[in-house]
Amino acid sequence: MTTQTAFLLNGAPVATGVRPDTTLLDLLRGPLALKGTKEGCAEGDCGACTVLFKRPGVAGPPLAANACIMTVAQIEGAEITTVEGLAPDGVLNAVQDEMARNGSSQCGFCTPGIAVALSGLLARDPDPDEAAIHDALAGNLCRCTGYRPIVDATRAAAARLRAELGGDEAPQPEARHAMITSHTDAGGATVHRPHDLRGLLKLRREHPDAVLLAGGTDLAVPLAGYETRWPRVIATGHVGQLRRIEATDTHWTFGAAVTWQEALEAVRDDYPSLATLIRRFGSIQIRSMGTIGGNIGTASPIGDGPPALIALGTTIGLASLEGGARDMPLEDFFVDYRRTALRDDEVITHVTVPRARAGTRFRTYKVSKRYDQDISTVCGAYRLDMDGGAVADIAIAYGGMAATPKRAPHAEAALRGRPLTLDAAREAGRALGSDFSPLTDWRGSAAYRHKVAANLIERLARDLAGETVEVMAP
Ligand SMILES: Cc1cc2nc3c(=O)[nH]c(=O)nc-3n(C[C@H](O)[C@H](O)[C@H](O)COP(=O)(O)OP(=O)(O)OC[C@H]3O[C@@H](n4cnc5c(N)ncnc54)[C@H](O)[C@@H]3O)c2cc1C
Ligand code: FES
Ligand code: FES
Repeated sequence: MTTQTAFLLNGAPVATGVRPDTTLLDLLRGPLALKGTKEGCAEGDCGACTVLFKRPGVAGPPLAANACIMTVAQIEGAEITTVEGLAPDGVLNAVQDEMARNGSSQCGFCTPGIAVALSGLLARDPDPDEAAIHDALAGNLCRCTGYRPIVDATRAAAARLRAELGGDEAPQPEARHAMITSHTDAGGATVHRPHDLRGLLKLRREHPDAVLLAGGTDLAVPLAGYETRWPRVIATGHVGQLRRIEATDTHWTFGAAVTWQEALEAVRDDYPSLATLIRRFGSIQIRSMGTIGGNIGTASPIGDGPPALIALGTTIGLASLEGGARDMPLEDFFVDYRRTALRDDEVITHVTVPRARAGTRFRTYKVSKRYDQDISTVCGAYRLDMDGGAVADIAIAYGGMAATPKRAPHAEAALRGRPLTLDAAREAGRALGSDFSPLTDWRGSAAYRHKVAANLIERLARDLAGETVEVMAP
C-alpha cells in the first residue's frame, strides 16, 4: 500500500507518493513541475539545485542544501523553499532584484541556485562580511558571470534588508513541529523513520541490508546518477539521541546525526583550527546535511573528520540491540580500506571529543587542489600537550597517507620530550617514512604526499612559534 511523504514546499503543504529513494530534484522538476531548480552536476558540486531546507522541530533559519543529493526519504515534515518560493507573488526578493540590478547573471543557469544560497545567507546573517559571502557561494559554481557582481549584489541586498527591517536582526522563522510518520511505502520502496535509539537498533537488526541513511551526501551521489536504487532505507535524522550535542568541562559529545554545520558552531571557541577545517568541508550545502557519523561510517581514507578527531583523542560509541553499547578509540574503528569495526547490527551513536586543556595546542591542515568544495589530498592533524616549552604528549594523525586515517607513531616519537624546533619538526617529517607508504593516484603521487605531510609538521612548528599564522574560519 502506498503511503505519502508530507512536507511544506514554499509555505504550502504537499503530499507525494513517489518512491522515497527519488531525489528531491527529480521530485521538484518532475511531478511537481517546478523547473527553477536546475540540474548541473547531479553530485553535490555545482549548487545549481540549491534549495533552503529546514528540519522539522529545529529552530532558526533554513540552510542551503543540494536537492540533487537529498532524497524524499529525508524531507518528511521539513520546510523546503525553492527559487519559486523566493518570489511567490512574482515580486523579486532583495537578492534577486539586486542580482538583476548589478548584472550578476549571464546565461542564468546558476542564477536560481545562487539566489537561493544568498537568500539563505541573509536569513542567518543580515550583515555578512566578504569572507561570509564567499563562504556562502563556495558551493555555487558560476562559469560565465564572475563573482564580483554577485558579491556586490549580496552587499546591496543585505543593506536594503537591514534598512527595511530597521535593524540588524533578520526575522527568524518559527520552527513548525510536524508529525513525522514512522515509515513510508511507495513504488516498492520503504523508508523507516525511528524516533529513538531503541527503535533504530531494532530496525537495524531486522533489516541488516537496508541503507542506513544520515545526510546522504555520500550515499545519494550514485542514487542521483541513477546507478542504484534503495528498496529499504532506515533514516537516522529523527533519532533524538543521535541529534544531541552535549558539553561538559572536559568533553564534547556529538550524536552521530549531528551535522558538520552544527559541529562548526560548537567547536569554534575551543578549537579554531578545527572550525577552519570544518568550514572547508564541502560547502554550506554539504555541511548542512552531511553528518559526523556519516563521515566516519563511510570510512574514506581521505575523509576530513577522522584525522582531526583521532588526533584529539576521540572515542566512538557503537550500539546494537543484542550487544548493547560499546566505546572504542576512533583510531581502532578503521580496520582496513573502507572496512570498520562496525558489526552488521550496529550503528554509530556518538563521538566523544576531549575539550582543550591549558597547555593543549591543536592544529589541523587540509591540502587539496582547491581551497573550497574539494576533498583532501593530504590532511594532517596535531595535538600537543606542552610542558615547560617541551612536547610532553603528542598525537599526530593523517588522512590520504594510508588505506585508513591513521596515527604517525614514529613522527610522534621524534617530537615527544623535545622543544618543537624546526630541526625537530624536520626530523619528525623524515620519520613519516617509517609510518606511511601512501599510494599514487590522480590527487597526488606517493612522493608528493610524503613531502606535503612532512612540510605540514614544519608548518605546525612555525605556526606554534608565531612565525606564521593559520587563517582562521570567518
Ligand atoms: C560535493 C561534496 C563535497 C564533499 N566534501 C567533503 C569534504 O570536504 N570532506 C569530507 O571529509 N567529506 C566530504 N564529502 C563527503 C560527505 O559529505 C561526508 O563524508 C559526510 O560527512 C557524510 O555524511 P552523511 O551524513 O551525508 O553520510 P551518508 O551519505 O548518509 O552516509 C555515509 C555512510 O555512513 C553510514 N552511516 C551514516 N550514519 C551512520 C551511523 N549512525 N552509524 C553507522 N553508519 C552510519 C551510511 O550507512 C553510509 O555508509 C563531500 C561530499 C560531496 C557530495
Ligand atoms: S546539480 Fe550540481 S549540486 Fe546539485
Ligand atoms: S550566469 Fe552562466 S553559469 Fe553563472
